[in-house]
Amino acid sequence: MTGDPLRGTTGHRLTAGLTVGGRVVVRYRLQEGDESGAAATDFLGELVARNDDFLVVDTKTERVKLIRADVIAAKDVPPPASRPGRAHERVSADDLERVMAKGWQAVDQGGLGDWVLRAAEGFTGRANSALVVGDPSLPVDKAIDFVERWYADRGLPPLFQVHGPAGSDLAAAPAAAALLERGYTVGGGREQWERVLVMTGLSAAVPPLTEQSVPVTADAELKLEWLMTYGEQRTIVPGVTEAVLTGSEGQLFLSVSDPQSRRIIALARMAIHPGWAGIFGLWVHPDHRHEGLGSTIVSAVAMVARENNMPAIYLQVSADNTAGVAFWRSLGFTVHHEYAYLARPAS
Ligand SMILES: CC(C)(COP(=O)(O)OP(=O)(O)OC[C@H]1O[C@@H](n2cnc3c(N)ncnc32)[C@H](O)[C@@H]1OP(=O)(O)O)[C@@H](O)C(=O)NCCC(=O)NCCS
Repeated sequence: MTGDPLRGTTGHRLTAGLTVGGRVVVRYRLQEGDESGAAATDFLGELVARNDDFLVVDTKTERVKLIRADVIAAKDVPPPASRPGRAHERVSADDLERVMAKGWQAVDQGGLGDWVLRAAEGFTGRANSALVVGDPSLPVDKAIDFVERWYADRGLPPLFQVHGPAGSDLAAAPAAAALLERGYTVGGGREQWERVLVMTGLSAAVPPLTEQSVPVTADAELKLEWLMTYGEQRTIVPGVTEAVLTGSEGQLFLSVSDPQSRRIIALARMAIHPGWAGIFGLWVHPDHRHEGLGSTIVSAVAMVARENNMPAIYLQVSADNTAGVAFWRSLGFTVHHEYAYLARPAS
């Protein structure tokens, strides 16, 4: 027999799907003779590492090393509540940004302290910007130097995503002030990058599908027709776009097809997280707007979310897309916080 006979235990299976870097709860068998007399205890915290035999979890008070074979139950959990409110309101902006970054993963990703550096050959601002969140572990100016070099090494312009409370002056955030001094501007000359709203809502508050709703297809796989239709409204980077669209822990590709032509006339991508669903790329063919297709797709997302223990939904929409913002408001979504991209103006 080769290998360790303990590998492949129930504990290994239960912990195989946990997200490293995510928040987890682990029920753990205590060794016999534990002075408390308890048979098991729970650890809640960030899963910082996993190898064949151990998990390392940073709890609020300590770093613990757990033997995977002694895990009785384990699951990913949503970020903690940081303020009063309902499921979609009580998460902090920093934590929600971290969740959303996992919903749209770059193909090339690095870290600088808590900052997340993302590159994907220029496909979308989100996947090609430094997410300014938490502590970069260096003084801000040195952190910016590092990020600029990181993007220069990849032949990409440096781009920073900076967030703040709804309605706040994003240029006043500490990293933003340092960037403005270097000649960066909010939006870098693109209106849609000047103010992006992060809107959230309760999956239970979205109107349900009815018998009159048009059929919505939800596919775990990215199909060519979905990708081609998506590519009709934005520039795609072959290979990279597919990798970003399919790069999260879980995602669904939703679409509505025209019953006559059978062509896709509305689509969206749903990202799946512990406790949260994300909606990306919602689009309805211009000839079919105001027919209820957009809201039907959101109702379908909300149904999947409700059935899979995701009480909260997020999405990101540029503030200059007034029709888009009105659409989300009509479905009960409200602004959680805002972000902007800071870039050097294109020469
Ligand atoms: C935004 C979009 C998805 C809406 O899809 P749709 O199928 O036309 O929307 P619905 O018919 O389901 O509309 C539902 C409600 O949203 C609101 N709404 C939709 N379009 C609106 C507009 N242009 N202006 C103001 N409100 C609007 C209305 O309250 C509407 O209800 P009503 O028809 O009873 O008035 C569609 O316009 C679109 O694809 N836009 C381009 C891409 C985009 O902006 N996506 C969203 C950004 S993330």
